[in-house]
Amino acid sequence: MAPKDIAVFVGSLRKDSLNRKMAHALAEIAPASLALQVVEIGQLPLYNADRDDGEQPPAAWGAFRRRVRAADAVLFVTPEYNRSVPGALKNALDVGSRPLGANAWRGKPGAVVSVSPGAIGAFGANHHLRQSLVFLDVAALPQPEVYVGGAASLFDAAGRLSNDGTRAFLLSFMQAFDRWITALSGAESAVRERLTAPVA
Ligand SMILES: Cc1cc2nc3c(=O)[nH]c(=O)nc-3n(C[C@H](O)[C@H](O)[C@H](O)COP(=O)(O)O)c2cc1C
Repeated sequence: MAPKDIAVFVGSLRKDSLNRKMAHALAEIAPASLALQVVEIGQLPLYNADRDDGEQPPAAWGAFRRRVRAADAVLFVTPEYNRSVPGALKNALDVGSRPLGANAWRGKPGAVVSVSPGAIGAFGANHHLRQSLVFLDVAALPQPEVYVGGAASLFDAAGRLSNDGTRAFLLSFMQAFDRWITALSGAESAVRERLTAPVA
C-alpha cells in the first residue's frame, strides 16, 4: 500500500529554525506507512478576500490549496510568537480556508507539534492553533500532546535530533498519528452521514 501523504506546515520561516529541524526529524522517525513533505508557506501573499472575489487570485494561493486538498493528513510544527500562532502560519490557515465554501482543510486528520527553546514548549501556540483547527474542520490528534521545550539543546551541529528520549517519544506520537489517520479515514464518511441525517 502507498504511504499516506502527510503535508507538513512549519510555523517558522527562519533558515536555522528549530521547528524545521523538528519537521525533518519527524519525517525520518515516522513509520514507513507515512510520507512527510514540508509544504512551504513563506511565499503566500497575505490573505485579502478582495483577491478571491475579484480577478485572478494569486497563483501561490491556488497551488497551496491544491496541495492541502491532495494530502491524506496535515501536520503542524510550530513555534510560539507572543503566546500565539506565528502570523505566517495563521496566514496559511486563512489562505487554505477560502474562498467561502471551499475550505481545503475540511475533514483532514491532523496533528500539532509545538517547539520552543523556552520551558513550556509553546503551549500557547499549540492551543491557539487547535482553536482554529476546530473551525477549519481538522480533527487534531488529542493524545499524545507534543510540547517540545528546551529545544535548542535537542539537535546536534548537523541539525539532527540527538536526544534518544525525545526520539522515542516522537516515534510513539507518529505511530498514534498513523492510527488516528487510519481510524478517521474509515469513520469519516459514516460519521458525517449520521451527523447530517434528519432526526427521526
Ligand atoms: C516575535 C517573536 C515572539 C516570540 N514569542 C515567544 C513566545 O511567546 N513564547 C516562546 O516560547 N518563545 C517565543 N519566541 C521565541 C521563539 O520560541 C524562538 O525564537 C524559536 O527559536 C522560534 O522557533 P524557530 O527556531 O523554529 O524559528 C518569540 C520569538 C519571536 C521572533
